[in-house]
Parts: sequence; structure tokens; C-alpha cells
Amino acid sequence: MLPRQEYIRVSIEINLFFQRIIKEHLFFIETNLPPVETAFIGEANVLKQSFEQLLADTVTSANGIISENAIKSNEIVTPYTLSAEEITSKLTGANLNTNITKVELRLTANSNSNYSERLENIVCDINDRSINMLKEVIALKKRLLDLVLKCKIFITLYPEMLEHITREAEYYLKILESLQERKFPMQALCEELNFWNHIMGEHAEFIDGMLDPTEKNLKETAEIIAEKFEKLVEECTKASDKQIIKKSSEVTEEIRNFKRASTEGLLKCQIKSIIPPLLADHVLREANHYLRLLKMMNISKQSDKC
Ligand SMILES: [Fe+2]
Ligand SMILES: [Fe+2]
Repeated sequence: MLPRQEYIRVSIEINLFFQRIIKEHLFFIETNLPPVETAFIGEANVLKQSFEQLLADTVTSANGIISENAIKSNEIVTPYTLSAEEITSKLTGANLNTNITKVELRLTANSNSNYSERLENIVCDINDRSINMLKEVIALKKRLLDLVLKCKIFITLYPEMLEHITREAEYYLKILESLQERKFPMQALCEELNFWNHIMGEHAEFIDGMLDPTEKNLKETAEIIAEKFEKLVEECTKASDKQIIKKSSEVTEEIRNFKRASTEGLLKCQIKSIIPPLLADHVLREANHYLRLLKMMNISKQSDKC
């Protein structure tokens, strides 16, 4: 049974990260559908706004509650998020609530915080609302993928990307469901590592596929990184826990640096591509989140030995 303080802190941290991720998935769907798909564009927009509201509510409860590590990881917002939002919103004409980002940039870590029963109830309600909205989002993503595969609709997102963002939403849903049972979300080490290594490898493939063909060096780097993650997935069950965590951390740091440089390059208009800056910042935050998880896994493996 998770103690109240842990339940509150872990819930808020996971919601701060994933509610933004999900609302951005919806933004990408909304902005990559052709104008003829009015109904789907509207549905994505409404769900995006619901997740923005959820995120705004989570932010209201987050100050002084979350850990220093969560803030420092740059998984909630990066130094690029606000400009990436402003530019991408301007270029696409689709709305993003940047006030939430501005408040998030000022969040502070836990210090003598009051993890009250009242706050527990607020968090419990946010988790329940997230679970309900998430089920709708997953259904929408699956419906779109199905129609894309049957060539009934056109969208400028790869089918693999629709599948990828569905998997991320399902992963988040599982975490919320276990938190609502007051359990710590736990799965086997290789299951967790393979989930993220696969996600990271796909990011490298998406970047490769969305860069202009003339960006040969960047495309080559992305391709090499994708292969490294593929190898990590194959190796997981054969290597020791410590070894695979170490190797995963090294390759994830490599992709994090690559994503960070790409985000900077895109914001400065120095890279030719069809990657919106917000997508680059989005995958950067996912790498930052995974790096924080890897650090926690590393610590828990070390303490296993004592
Ligand atoms: Fe994502
Ligand atoms: Fe992703």
C-alpha cells in the first residue's frame, strides 16, 4: 500500500509529465489531418483542451509537492518548450495554452509540504478524470489507425507513429490504474526497459524519416542510434540487470543530446525538415523522463545488493 505522501507525489509527477504528452499527441493529430476531416479535427481539439484543463489542475496542486529530481530532469518542461509551443502554434494556427508552461517553469520542489487528506482527494479525482479521458484518447487513436490502414483517411503522421502514441497512452493508463489501487506501478525490468528502448528507437526512426533528404549527417546519426536501441531490446534478457541499465542509460543520453541539438537547430531554423519544433521538444522530454527512470532503477539495483 502506497503511503499517502508517495501516492500524492508520484501521481502529480506522472500527471505533469504525461498530461502534457497526451495533449501534444492530440495537437499533432489535430494539425496533421487534412481540412476535410472536420469531425476528427474537432474531436482531437476538444480532447486536447480537456487534457490542458487536467494539466492546469495538476499544476495548481504541484507546487512544493514534487521532487527536486522531477523538476531537474526537464521532463515536465524544457528550456525550449515555451518557444517551441509559441512557434508551432503560430505556424499551424492551432491553439496551445502557454500560460500552463509559464507556471510550470516556476514550480518548486517539496519542502515541509502538507500532504493532506484534502490534497489526496484532489489528486484522486484528477487521476480518475485522467483515466476516463485517456480511454477516449486511446479509442480515438485506434480508430484513426484503423482508418489509415484501410486507406479511408489521410494523415501526415506515420501509422507507426499512431501506434507509438497509442502505446504511450496505454502505458500511462496502466500507471494510473495501479496508483488508484494505491500500488506502485511495477513491471519486470526487461518489460520496462524494452518499452522505453523501443520508444526511443522509434523516435530516432521518425526523426530520420522526417528530416530533409539533404540532411545526410543528421539522418545517419539517427539511423545509427535507432540500431543501437534495437540491439538493446534484443540483448535485455541476456545481459545482467546492471549492464543493461548502464548501456540503456548511455544510448539514451546519446539520443537526448541529439534531440536537444535538433530542437535547438529547428528553433533557429538551421535544420531542413518536416519536424515541428514542438515534436522535437516532445521527444526530448520523453528521453529526459526515461533517463530519470533509469537513474531510479540504477539506485534500486544498487540497494538490492546491500
Ligand atoms: Fe509521445
Ligand atoms: Fe514517443
